[in-house]
Amino acid sequence: MLRVLVCVSGGGTNLQAILDAVAAGKIRDAEIVGVISNNADAYALTRAANAGVPGICVSPKDFATRTEFNEGLLAKIDEIAPDLIVLAGFLVQVPEAMVRAYPGMIINIHPSLIPSFCGVGYYGLKVHEQALARGVKVSGATVHFVDEDMDTGPIILQKAVYVQDGDTPKALQQRIMEEAEWQILPQAIDLIAQGRVVIEGRTTRILPGADA
Ligand code: GAR
Repeated sequence: MLRVLVCVSGGGTNLQAILDAVAAGKIRDAEIVGVISNNADAYALTRAANAGVPGICVSPKDFATRTEFNEGLLAKIDEIAPDLIVLAGFLVQVPEAMVRAYPGMIINIHPSLIPSFCGVGYYGLKVHEQALARGVKVSGATVHFVDEDMDTGPIILQKAVYVQDGDTPKALQQRIMEEAEWQILPQAIDLIAQGRVVIEGRTTRILPGADA
């Protein structure tokens, strides 16, 4: 069983997709052992409680400095001892010490086709605002491993979603969540649990096997 920890900041619809996929057998050989939020009010914590998964808040507000927050976060993660850390709308710059402590064991979902509309300042609705302002005809989502920089680690899965006439950032965000994020994030976790994702430098190779 792969021990999966999910880190969140907000609504937690991606967390819900993961919980539902585990319940439906679409993520095999994995259990969600905890949810960490940097925000005490995150609805994601309620979703965790509803699923019987321990939810913990580790907020920067409870620490005197960023360094102490980073240390507190890492200490909590070490306590949980996960095999995989999933950033599902976790809007915190991942501390370098955490990346070093969990090499190739942290993945993130980003709501665009990386390397477009990613990096510092691109999160949540801002990503879709920028994509529409640039006039792209296709956007989507990416699941990737986390390295020391922002949104630069090896890509695991991507899914494209067409922009439609009259799309607002909210409408595009919702379609990308439904058609891409909620599918490829659980799928990536299943692939990792099946031992089918191999990191090769800046890229990954997906080994053949039975899909859930
Ligand atoms: C998702 O769209 C996720 O891709 C995005 O935040 C949203 C969280 O929604 N993440 C980023 O922008 C990371 N740079 P959720 O809390 O409902 O899953």
